This record gives sequence, C-alpha cells and structure tokens, in this order.
Amino acid sequence: MCGIIGYTGKDEAAGIMLDALELLEYRGYDSAGIALLSEGEIQILKTAGRVGDLRRLCSGEKPEGRCGIGHTRWATHGGVCGANAHPHRFGRVTLIHNGIIENYKELKEKYGLDGLLQSETDSEVVAAVLEHFYSGDPYSAIRRTVLKLKGTFALAVLFDDQPDCIFAVRNVSPIVAAVTDNGAFLASDVAAIAPYTADYFVVPEFHVVCLGPGNAELFDLSGDRAVIDWLSVDWDVSRSGKEGYPFYMEKEIMEQPEVIGETIFPRIKEGKPDFSEEGIPDEILSACQRICVIACGTAMHAGLVGKSLIQAIIGIHVDVVMASEFMYNDPVVDKDTLVIAISQSGETIDTLEALKFARKCGSPCISIVNVKGASIARASEYVIYTNAGPEIAVASTKAYTTQLAVLYLLTARMAMARKLWSEQELAGYMCELQRVPAVLKQVLETKEEIHRLAGSILNASDVFMIGRGLDYSILLEGSLKLKEVSYIHSEAYASGELKHGTIALITEDTPVIAVVTQEKLKSKELSNIREVQSRGARVVLLIKEGETLDGGEQWSCVYRLPKMDDFFMVMPASIVLQLIAYFVSLDKGLDVDKPRNLAKVVTVE
Ligand code: M6R
Repeated sequence: MCGIIGYTGKDEAAGIMLDALELLEYRGYDSAGIALLSEGEIQILKTAGRVGDLRRLCSGEKPEGRCGIGHTRWATHGGVCGANAHPHRFGRVTLIHNGIIENYKELKEKYGLDGLLQSETDSEVVAAVLEHFYSGDPYSAIRRTVLKLKGTFALAVLFDDQPDCIFAVRNVSPIVAAVTDNGAFLASDVAAIAPYTADYFVVPEFHVVCLGPGNAELFDLSGDRAVIDWLSVDWDVSRSGKEGYPFYMEKEIMEQPEVIGETIFPRIKEGKPDFSEEGIPDEILSACQRICVIACGTAMHAGLVGKSLIQAIIGIHVDVVMASEFMYNDPVVDKDTLVIAISQSGETIDTLEALKFARKCGSPCISIVNVKGASIARASEYVIYTNAGPEIAVASTKAYTTQLAVLYLLTARMAMARKLWSEQELAGYMCELQRVPAVLKQVLETKEEIHRLAGSILNASDVFMIGRGLDYSILLEGSLKLKEVSYIHSEAYASGELKHGTIALITEDTPVIAVVTQEKLKSKELSNIREVQSRGARVVLLIKEGETLDGGEQWSCVYRLPKMDDFFMVMPASIVLQLIAYFVSLDKGLDVDKPRNLAKVVTVE
C-alpha cells in the first residue's frame, strides 16, 4: 500500500515522478505529494486527493529540481488531509514512507516530539528520529533509526546537505531500484520504472540503497557494501496502457484468453503438465498428506476452487485459510503438509507472514505469484509465476483466472505423480484445459449480452449469489467483485444453506444470481432457485448451454455458458461474473479501477 517513487538524474524530476505516481496510484489514492531537492533547498508540494490533483498543483507552482521523491498514500495513521500527505519534513530530513510503525508512540515520547510534529502520521516520527541521529553521515543515521523501528517500512529519504542523493531502506514493504543513462530510480514496484528500463533490483530487507544521478550503491546495516542482484522485467511493458479501453478492469478481463494461454502452454510438454522449469520435484506432490492454501481475497477464492479440484481428483484433505487468520488459529502444518501460498502482488503481508511461519514448521511451500521477484516468491521454496502481466485495476480479474489455470496444472501433475490417472484420463483433462482460452474468447464475444444482464441488478441495494460446490466457490469471488467495484451489498451463499436462516432476507427487491454448472448438483441447485423464486426474487441464471429449464416465464434472465467438462466450467462462469460487476460499476459512473477505500497491494496487517 502507498506508492513510492524517487528519481535523481539529468532530467527534471517532477514530471517523471508525476507520471510514475499515476502508474503507482492503484496502491493508494488518498493523497499525493512530491519533494524536490535542488541546491540544498527542499520544495514540497502535496495535497489530499489524487495524483491528478497534485499534477494541477504542480502545473501552477512549476517545481524545479533533478532529484526528488514522491508518494501516493493509502491512509493508515491519521485521516485523509494535506497535512498527513507525504513527504514529511523534520529538520534536515525529508521522507516518504510505506508501511506502519507500530512503536511510533514510544518513539514520540522517547525523543520528546510532542508538539513538534505537523501531522498525525507515524511516518513523520521516523523523519524526526532520523534528524535526531543525523550528524552528516546518512548511513549511520539510517542504521541507528532503523534499529529503533518496530513494524514495516519502505522509506525514501532526502537529506538537505546530500545533493542529488536519495537514500532508501526497507523492512517487508517493497522497494525496487534501477539505473539508466539518464538517472537512477526507486519505486514500490517495477510498473513505475518499466517505461524507462527493463533492468532493476529488489532492495533487500534491512539494506540501505543510495542513488546518485547515474548509479546505485547498496550496503548492509553494518555499512558493508552488498552485491546487487539484477533482475529483468519479463513482461510486455506495452501491456501497461489501457489500449483504448475506458478502464484497466475491462482491458484485463478481455486479456484473459491470451494470458491464460501464456500461463498454461509453456508448462505443457508432450501433452503433460510440466514444472521442471520451476524445479518442483514430483516427490513433494506425491508425498504430502494434506495441503494448506494460504491467501487473501481473490487469491483465497482461487484456493477454494483448487481445494474442490484436489479433494475430488487426488482425494487428500485441503484447507484453505485466510492468511490474515492463519497465525491466530494455532496453525497445524508440518513436513507432511504442502503449503501453497497464492498472491497476485506477492507482497500481501498476511500471506507472507503465514508463509514464513509454515516454512519454519518444515512444510514444503509452493507459491503462485504474478509479480516477478516479489517478497512471497523470494520467501518460498518453489515459485510458479502466473503470466498475467501487470494487473493495474484494483479488482483482480486476470490474476484470478491465471491462478486457477496454475491450480488445474498442479492438480494434474499431482495426479500424475501419484499415478492416479491412465494416459487417457490425463489426455482428456489436459485437452479440456487447453480449450479454456478459446472458450473464454467465446464468452467475451457476448459481452454486450452480459452488459444487458448487469442492467437487472444495477439499481439493487442487495444482491444474493447462490450455488453449490464449485459454483459456490466462484460466487464468493463474483460477490467480492461486485461489492468492491459497484458498492452494492452482495452475499454469496451456499444455496442449500439459505433456508437455514438467510432466506428471510429474500424479497421481491432482491435480485439473486445463481450459477448451475455441476451436473451432480443440478437438480438440488434448481430446487434452491425455486425456493427463492417462490419468495418473489428475480433470478439471473448462469447455466450450461443445452440444459432444459421448466417453468417458462420465470427464467427471464438466463445466460448460457459454453459447455466444458464440469471441473472447468468455473472458467467461463467467472468471466461472466467479472463482466457483470464491471458493467454495473461502469453504468453507475464509478471509478471502476480505483474503488473507494481500497488499494491494490496490501502491505499492512
Ligand atoms: O496480491 P494478492 O493476490 O495477495 O492480494 C490479495 C487481495 O488483497 C486481493 O485479491 C483483493 O481481494 C482484490 N482487491 C480483489 O479484487
């Protein structure tokens, strides 16, 4: 959460930072600010609101300087206002911060800061502590300050008397850095610097990076020089734009056939799932006695689909645990438990902490991550990257379906490793998996039909989504999507459970979205739908093509999903649910890509 940018080089920094902050804005958009260091003078411009507001402020003020730091904020400590916007300045120190300083109160007391601070933030306290320790040696001040901090932080710092230099240090919260012929950059993630260079490095935790106009130096906290581990952005930077779509969310939904193909096809060798590139040995897939999936939000919903697949096909027990709850429920994981961490950003702190715990318990760990080199990928024994490319919209879409694609492959490899399938069974499953991109294309071609369906819930204040088994799992995701982008209250409910209480909320004004894709559950699901129809609910039904429906006029809103094997029906059904949420948000005139109160990357617990 919060986006950080720093630039020092030959060019004017303000424009570069504003462009980068726009690319980072999905990380938080409560306020934005920049600071420029020029000839020992600091100029700070900041405002509550979006980067667009900051840009307007800058076009009036015309800030100058070739070295600067910038920030876009997701508020944690202190409300959304100009004073709490970053950068913060104390004495000779100007700083931006992503993360949470848990012991800020103690620090405030210890260093006698009461009455001296301009904001309510924990970040300004860090600036004050840095100033306290600063006597001309930035490394020493940073080292001494960092040793006092409890919590998570990515800090970028300017010292008035260190011309053209930006210093940065981090614990958990991410920072990457890069050097080009025109200057050096640091940022919260590569999306912001990818327009300038493909080469970057991840600043290791508790290391200090110093950027000069054409160089980057890395030191550990004891002051010893450290070796930089260079990486390369291996996604197509041209995918970072909206390509004519009004919102990233629509563009990312439309990209799914392509990115799912890019996620599965390189991992199919001679018709079989293959993770040799990832170095995943079959033994860890065949030896585990149970599986524990840890993830949050949409990634956790992908895990629920994985659970249904693995339990049905492999026959071992799978727990899917919300990573934010994992540590507080006395987790039982051991060397016989395969832990799968799923995360688009690879930076979600709840998932990262749960993963670290599982590793300490001796569990073999595989992570499924989209962002290359992210913390979760680095903390994991094995990584499978989803090749979704940059996902910019806060609401996750293509990351989810590529996570599902990996889980389909992993399940198949596990079945192979355990010798559960005949050659024919494996071939049939793999053939169906390879049809997914084409089937999704078919669904996306009907997007205007789905737009009309979305119209039937546009003015609702509550929506229920009902289904059983795999259908219920994807409705949990469909419901989250609708809530986050349309602000309509929505609940996904296991349709058989409804009659145990919640059906009391169903009235004529409550639209119900029902998904029926599983042959073995169809008759029970249809009975549950009739129960809500009898209470006057208008039902939007997603069902496989070719299925007959009794009851004529009751089915005014039906979407026919292209037929696939039941295990794979979640793919086309998910795309329809994503588009319904998208069109409701669009037609309500909301900011689809940046829903209120949210941030794309959640690096606070
Ligand atoms: O980056 P991650 O996949 O770890 O993020 C997990 C959740 O924060 C994320 O899926 C969130 O629920 C999305 N906003 C959903 O669209």
